[in-house]
Amino acid sequence: MSTVFRSPGVRRHVLAAIASTGGLLFGFDTGIISGALPLIQQDWRLDTFTSSLLVAALLGGAVVGALIAGQVCDRLGRREIITATSATFALGAFGSGLAPSIDWLIASRAVVGLALGAISVSVPLHIAEIAPAKSRGALVSCNQLAITIGILLAYVTAALLGSDHEAWRHMFMAGSALAVLLGITSVALLESPRWLVWQDDEQEARRVLGELIAQPQDIDREIDRIKRGLKAETENRLGKLIRGRGRPEMITGIGLYFFQQFVGINAILYFAPSIFTKAGFDGQTAALLATVAIGVLNVLMTVLAMRLLDRVGRRPLLSIGFSGMALSLLAAGLTFMVFGEASGAQRWLVLLALLTFIACFAVSIGPIGWLMISEIYPTTLRGRAMSIPSAAHWLFNAVVSFSFLPLLLHLGDGPTFGLFALFGMAGWFFCRFLVPETKGLALEEIQEQQAARAAARPPT
Ligand code: BGC
Repeated sequence: MSTVFRSPGVRRHVLAAIASTGGLLFGFDTGIISGALPLIQQDWRLDTFTSSLLVAALLGGAVVGALIAGQVCDRLGRREIITATSATFALGAFGSGLAPSIDWLIASRAVVGLALGAISVSVPLHIAEIAPAKSRGALVSCNQLAITIGILLAYVTAALLGSDHEAWRHMFMAGSALAVLLGITSVALLESPRWLVWQDDEQEARRVLGELIAQPQDIDREIDRIKRGLKAETENRLGKLIRGRGRPEMITGIGLYFFQQFVGINAILYFAPSIFTKAGFDGQTAALLATVAIGVLNVLMTVLAMRLLDRVGRRPLLSIGFSGMALSLLAAGLTFMVFGEASGAQRWLVLLALLTFIACFAVSIGPIGWLMISEIYPTTLRGRAMSIPSAAHWLFNAVVSFSFLPLLLHLGDGPTFGLFALFGMAGWFFCRFLVPETKGLALEEIQEQQAARAAARPPT
């Protein structure tokens, strides 16, 4: 047993799993709000504006958290921030559970948001920098797997805690227990060897690599590669990188999240029970389907994605995923339009369409969004550069979540799904023309390819 844990390959997986507890917090909080919000609304008689403020506080906090985390990761390292983030999350979640007033609750949710934003940058970044090129896709996607498990765990927790008076307090507090778990296990994490070499601490980088790589000659090779990569990074000011040769990668990062969110994933996850009810299922079956079928499928298809990412590559999965999402959203939209009102055929067609949508999301842009932003930026700017698409992700999430119900009201179910289908199609074109393949390449080799592409571009 102990020899197994001494194996560098196993150690990388264990470290990726520990860091991914951050994803568990991310997913848990995404899922728990749909169980907690109706209860808070009931307990405190919240109006629509205050309920929206409660949701917006978290998303706003996450935008700020992502931007701060990028700076911290570049200046102070990729490891300590994960421990600090778990403490922030625990504090915010505990504060939410104890909240004596709505102002307090809104402030606590903003603190949780800060932590989630920071997690969304630091966890994929940390894992990408300790992963070998050949299994980076699977290792970084442990984070997405944890997000999907967190969502499922939240559904189950909410169902178990029921709808008793103040059950929402326990729902939030359950999140702080997960954060304590991350805090405790995160002390085992190793600092990124890339960040250490950048900070001129080659000795410590060699020690860390010694834990991650079996052969001493491979450690020398890795150090050389990192040094060569750092030498080639001539720009370490974010503004200049974005205005100059790094602009396409910034467009790629932000665009991936734009399409990840605008296909409506969170609208569907948050409102699945009411969508199924509208399609003709009774309330209880609809809730069960939303939790079990959607939640479990999301987890299982993410496992499949982890097996495929390093074999077939990122681009083929994005292509299959976006085509499938566009077609299934179109099918859901057409079903609502053709049938008009709840019927036997409609409910099965909508169920099939939404399950196909979730499967296609989970095998493609779900994990690939987080994976790719950890791959396409240079080491000396990785944290700060990643923080921009991550912050945009939270902003897009807010826009879609807040506009879904008004869209249903003004456009109707069919056209709303039709609109999401259009974003799915546009996402397919975006990935086809603006997303590079990164399978099997070391982070430094990805930079070399990007530099070569930039050199080949006509000057602007
Ligand atoms: C997205 C989240 C989404 C989750 C669903 C993540 O990649 O960033 O917004 O809720 O996937 O599995």
